[in-house]
Amino acid sequence: MTKKNQPSLAQQRKDDHVNLALEQQSKLQTSAFDDIRFMHHSFSEVKFDQIDTSTQWANTTHRFPFYINGMTGGSTYTKQFNDSLSKLAHETGLAMASGSVSVALKEPEVRDSFTIIRKNNPNGFVMANLGAHHDLENAKRAVDLLEANALQIHLNTPQEVVMPEGDRDFSTWKENIQQIVEGLDVPVIVKEVGFGMSKETMEELISLGVKNIDVSGRGGTNFVNIENDRRDTIDFSLLGEWGQTTPESLLESLSLQKEVNILASGGVRSFYDIVKALALGAKATGLSGKLLQTVHLEGVDTATQIVLDWEKAIKHMLLLLNCHNIQELQETQLLLSGPLREYAELRKID
Ligand code: FNR
Repeated sequence: MTKKNQPSLAQQRKDDHVNLALEQQSKLQTSAFDDIRFMHHSFSEVKFDQIDTSTQWANTTHRFPFYINGMTGGSTYTKQFNDSLSKLAHETGLAMASGSVSVALKEPEVRDSFTIIRKNNPNGFVMANLGAHHDLENAKRAVDLLEANALQIHLNTPQEVVMPEGDRDFSTWKENIQQIVEGLDVPVIVKEVGFGMSKETMEELISLGVKNIDVSGRGGTNFVNIENDRRDTIDFSLLGEWGQTTPESLLESLSLQKEVNILASGGVRSFYDIVKALALGAKATGLSGKLLQTVHLEGVDTATQIVLDWEKAIKHMLLLLNCHNIQELQETQLLLSGPLREYAELRKID
């Protein structure tokens, strides 16, 4: 809390984000993942016990091909969510990212809303998170705060533009990313926040030395709409469809997947979406809105069971698709239809 125990603007924003994201999650309907189908073949030769769904990214082998993506922290209210999410991470072994720790670098009274993540999960794979306007020194402070295994750097120009109090100068981002990748002694993941990525953006990130990219596409939590709900003047809801969906972003990444670890998030709702994202080349998928809603409505114990059930369901899907592992899944035949197919044609992606 700041003066007179009133939450600061940044702390209030963190509360708004969680509440508005939960509201959005309850309204989501169609998804670009529905434009992806698997070709069915009638024989499978793999044995269930031989199926391995572990995956490698950020210099680490992860048991699950999905993780809890960056969301929250930075206020008393959001501490409860980091408490639940990190208990879920601890119970299951899922990797987990915090939300942006920027606020804790300026307002030390909210540090415990982040450090609870490490306290609840002393040995888990934890990622700290910062915006790309931060320099190497702040990146080191963010990693130290959480004793983090990796750092997520988020790119979010549409969100900043629509956010009433958002940044209006993004000119230092590339230089910061390059210096952080070179100077930090933990792996760096550069991510979008629900607007997806183009091939051109990913090529630039690769040229800056980035080895892990989360395309985080449109289709789930929508930060244009969240920030638009937080402003009084200029209605930016016309930009509600800004950006590439997650499947579109994965198509954009196809020719780069040998050079860089591609992670996918944005609108992942179920084990079925996870398998589709993996089949399109993702090394793992991140979930934010869906897991926020799950711990909020169901509690940590039920969320734990859901995560373990999803792991089993993914293995059943690999059995059905005759794949021993995620590498083989990436060779499986996909049928694209509707707007996703049109997108592939427009961008000349085979
Ligand atoms: C986010 N997201 C996010 N990302 C980030 O890199 N730093 C952050 O601080 C936040 N904050 C945040 C708060 C809340 C409440 C949500 C739900 C999400 C974005 C998140 O990591 C992800 O990129 C998008 O939400 C898209 O994924 P989902 O929510 O559709 O699974």
